[in-house]
Amino acid sequence: MRTEKTIIITGGAGFIGSHVVRHFVTRYPQYTIINLDKLTYAGNLANLRDIEEKENYKFIKGDIIDAAFIDRLFAEQKPDAVIHLAAESHVDRSISSPVEFVMTNVVGTVNLLNAAKACWKGVYDKCRFYHVSTDEVYGALTGDGMFTEETRYDPHSPYSASKASSDHFVRAYRDTFGMDIVISNCSNNYGSFHFPEKLIPLAINNIKNSKPVPVYGKGENIRDWLWVEDHVKAIDLIFHNAKAGTTYNVGGHNEWKNIDLIRLLCNIMDRKLSRVPGTSAQLITFVKDRAGHDLRYAINATKLQQELGWKPSLQFEEGLEKTVDWYLANEEWLDQVTSGAYQKYYSDQYSES
Ligand code: NAD
Ligand code: TYD
Repeated sequence: MRTEKTIIITGGAGFIGSHVVRHFVTRYPQYTIINLDKLTYAGNLANLRDIEEKENYKFIKGDIIDAAFIDRLFAEQKPDAVIHLAAESHVDRSISSPVEFVMTNVVGTVNLLNAAKACWKGVYDKCRFYHVSTDEVYGALTGDGMFTEETRYDPHSPYSASKASSDHFVRAYRDTFGMDIVISNCSNNYGSFHFPEKLIPLAINNIKNSKPVPVYGKGENIRDWLWVEDHVKAIDLIFHNAKAGTTYNVGGHNEWKNIDLIRLLCNIMDRKLSRVPGTSAQLITFVKDRAGHDLRYAINATKLQQELGWKPSLQFEEGLEKTVDWYLANEEWLDQVTSGAYQKYYSDQYSES
């Protein structure tokens, strides 16, 4: 049966993607949601167990680098829209394997644009390509300012350079072919199902297991943290309401120095694990800094707030507590994703420190 809309969500088995898929599947039963994911180390169908039996949900395993496969998929499924999240997303991995980032983030995005262009010929105004991007395309802040939608692109890592390139391609397909595209650039997300290579889940896992918590450099770098569910609400609003061709910044207005964030996390974990206050903080270990480490990210999300009425719903302390509770209640998930290949990644990444 043909539903009101068929949406392909790419990268739906990853951290943010799984929250987006769950939200669209449950909130919009009138849509068919196709989750297209390669299931790399970061993709995990266990993230979607609670909705996998829903009638309006379908999972298709596939690689966006494979243009012939993507063309076939679009011809068969005839989607009305794409919400594109599939990406290689970890800065440290982009430093050791940049080409993988070019392939998935740039070539993969162009393959999707081409397939959408062919599928939507003559009906561009009825179909939408939503590209989910990052604030890291804007580079690093050194003073007091914040990134706005007008900030010049200045990426520094292979990850952010590949995302910047994909953003340019998406805009080029509007300017050249008239496709309906929208882009959002979001700050650092946190919450459940976050793969423990990123700072917050890695630190939670290490504190839980009484292992050293690696803090790069002096821990002075600043990130603007947003609860993943608030990002999902922004994606929903933008997908349904943004004018074609628009870009929105999404951010938590919630800047934390890494070391302060880790200290707060240690305090929360001491309480949750009934440890003597100060125990977990002893695990903090300053390690070699990341190459080209961006000093500060901060998002000005005024445009999204004023035009679409979005604002973050959770205070950081509350969100971090909920996140810790989720990881402590989901040991099986954590143990599964940190077994096997994760162990090799971890020792390669942190052995020189
Ligand atoms: P993630 O690494 O957790 O998930 C990425 C997903 O993409 C995985 O399920 C993986 O299997 C899939 N994937 C990777 N390569 C693929 C390929 N070639 N073909 C098909 N699927 C493939 O990433 P995330 O943190 O959920 O980020 C999702 C998107 O949001 C990315 O585009 C990222 O740039 C962007 N973003 C992330 C953050 C953040 O804080 N995590 C912030 C802003 C923007
Ligand atoms: P990360 O979660 O990798 O996100 P991003 O680099 O995309 O912002 O890192 C967040 C911050 O934490 C960043 O300044 C790097 C730092 N960091 C550490 O200090 N130690 C770690 O082990 C990791 C993974 C990150």
